[in-house]
Amino acid sequence: MTLDLTPITKPTLESAPAADFADAMSALASGVALVTCWLDGRPWGMTVTAFASVSADPPTILVSLAATSASVRAIGAARMLGVSILGEAQLEAARHSSAPGAPKFLEPFIDLREAVGESPVIAGALAHLDCEVTERVEIADHTVFFARVREARTSLDGAPLVYFRRAYRTLARPTQAHPSIRGRVPCLSS
Ligand SMILES: Cc1cc2nc3c(=O)[nH]c(=O)nc-3n(C[C@H](O)[C@H](O)[C@H](O)COP(=O)(O)O)c2cc1C
Repeated sequence: MTLDLTPITKPTLESAPAADFADAMSALASGVALVTCWLDGRPWGMTVTAFASVSADPPTILVSLAATSASVRAIGAARMLGVSILGEAQLEAARHSSAPGAPKFLEPFIDLREAVGESPVIAGALAHLDCEVTERVEIADHTVFFARVREARTSLDGAPLVYFRRAYRTLARPTQAHPSIRGRVPCLSS
């Protein structure tokens, strides 16, 4: 019997064109969050939609951040991060912390009296999670942080900030008079 020593080559992975991928992802309506940390002793944050609950026990989340961002450097060093889940009232904070190349210090948007654990909290956020990084994974051009939630706080008021088809929106509130919410999704970005 002869052995076949031909090297096994992995099939080349094919990639969809970036624009097609971006168009497809823009069809997914997402809540908007701000990942917060401390940078040079000052509060810093980055607007994200790539945030998910991973596990309830122990409470674990993930965020996926551009590997070259200042946030990744700061969070990687401190192994701490915060996630403020934004409401429609925090639209300006979301815009501020997504401006490419601009400093993303958060002083105008935080309230130290609302502190939850060690991470900066966006004033008026619908919820805030204070987290400790447990693992990081480098994937493509992003760093995915998995983090244990050490403290979670929620406000029961406020409508969510939503991102859909490259625009910020919010949800129409269902009322008893109008139990069906067909058709009304106001856009905040125009
Ligand atoms: C609605 C929205 C969601 C975003 N979500 C993410 C995200 O999940 N991960 C990420 O790395 N960048 C995300 N970004 C981009 C960053 O907020 C930011 O614009 C980008 O990192 C530019 O930062 P830079 O100054 O470091 O270049 C998002 C931007 C917007 C407007």
